[in-house]
Amino acid sequence: MKITIVGSGYVGLVTGACFSEVGINVVCVDIDSKKIENLNKGIIPIYEPGLEDMITRNMNKGRLSFTTSIETAVKESEVVFISVGTPPDEDGSADLKYVLAVARDCGKHMTDYTLIVTKSTVPVGTSLKVKEAVQDELNKRNVSIEFDVASNPEFLKEGAAINDFLKPDRIVVGLNSERAESLMSSLYKPFTLNGHPVIFMDIVSAEMTKYAANAMLATKISFINDIANLCEIVGADVNKVRKGIGSDTRIGHKFIYPGIGYGGSCFPKDVQALIRTADENNYNLQVLQAVESVNKYQKLVLFNKINSYYNGDLKGKTIGVWGLSFKPQTDDMREAPALYIINSLLEAGAVVKAYDPVALEEAKHHFGDRITYCDEQYETLIDADCLAILTEWPEFKFPSFKIIKKLLSKPLVFDGRNIYDRDEMAKYGFEYFCIGVRS
Ligand code: NAD
Ligand code: UGA
Repeated sequence: MKITIVGSGYVGLVTGACFSEVGINVVCVDIDSKKIENLNKGIIPIYEPGLEDMITRNMNKGRLSFTTSIETAVKESEVVFISVGTPPDEDGSADLKYVLAVARDCGKHMTDYTLIVTKSTVPVGTSLKVKEAVQDELNKRNVSIEFDVASNPEFLKEGAAINDFLKPDRIVVGLNSERAESLMSSLYKPFTLNGHPVIFMDIVSAEMTKYAANAMLATKISFINDIANLCEIVGADVNKVRKGIGSDTRIGHKFIYPGIGYGGSCFPKDVQALIRTADENNYNLQVLQAVESVNKYQKLVLFNKINSYYNGDLKGKTIGVWGLSFKPQTDDMREAPALYIINSLLEAGAVVKAYDPVALEEAKHHFGDRITYCDEQYETLIDADCLAILTEWPEFKFPSFKIIKKLLSKPLVFDGRNIYDRDEMAKYGFEYFCIGVRS
């Protein structure tokens, strides 16, 4: 079977690579010709562990190719996955113009039965719009070609995307045709051998499942951040509280790590989009509004700590920053807390020297020459007044505290990810500020 993946970003590339890995013939399409030119040379546009090897291996085997020609790809494929971006519109709702443009392209070029699967995260009702767009193009061509639409939301996490795709907890598929069900069952069979199910449902429920999953995870994070802030006030230690509640299997240990707010390309935009969907349907989604407002507040909690330490006068202070990406194992900085914190530091007149294992190039698009980029973590601390940790990369977890102390003008650390032990830091002679523990 030959399939097409339209949109060669995080989701499209991982999807294409993983389907080709199990022997399926895959064509990945993108409108960005530079991206496709690079991919054809083996240059991968994103940092995602394991992805480059997998893409190269499957290109060499002839099972994976890249093109800008959606026409050829669609003509040759029985299944087309749409995995283009759905960025927030001005009012927070998901902008569907890229998804619908691809749907139209399918209608323009398909010659035989095609199953069109939306993998992008899209609001309830989008698959119906996809169907209408395809049909409209077929009508313009005055042809009658059978097709189905399906919703197959993606649950992978950046930084662990390959593993998440190859060994998913579950695969959700929304559809309303037996032919489509049989195609999706055979495509996903190799990924369900670990016993995890493909859950078939109606299309609307599948679209809703994606938003509900991200909203639930964002809720866990904002909940623990809210509790963390209260812990500080009342003198409790959120690290202990987290372990205490996580041991209850009904709550679980995952996604209750306090920090500087959730970032990334999905939680912020998907929470907003679900609130918009509720608004449009005259329903007040109260929990998620609180989740969003806690997250906005949380993104500045570490800046506020630094600012109040210096009594609101950050002019001329130099802050060494470790970590820029929104989470470890990725160079993605979309909605990263680092963007908010560093911009606030700069606005307050501070000087920022930053290091990240993979996101420095990406950071240059955001900050230009307003900050100093360091190739090595300790270099950020030369002539710096304090260290701020914004991403919990493994290499920051066991640093040489001796070197940190020697380089900083004063042993002072602001940790937005709670990667150090407060008592140990005190033993080493540091003033240490973290999240959810009174200093
Ligand atoms: P991305 O921005 O990394 O990639 C999107 C790609 O689509 C870009 O390369 C763009 O050039 C291409 N594109 C846009 N219009 C096109 C068109 N008409 N034809 C061909 N290509 C086109 O986006 P992403 O992070 O991969 O996200 C894609 C979707 O998947 C979004 O809806 C997102 O919410 C969802 N999602 C993302 C993740 C993630 O971890 N990034 C996880 C699950 C779901
Ligand atoms: C998230 C979901 O985890 C995926 O299942 C989903 O497919 C994806 O969004 C999506 O729809 O795009 P991702 O954004 O890649 O994946 O990363 P996460 O690991 O979920 O982290 C998101 C943010 O939450 C990060 O800023 C992270 O630092 C923060 N976080 C996460 C916490 O602050 N505490 C936690 O306990 C967990």
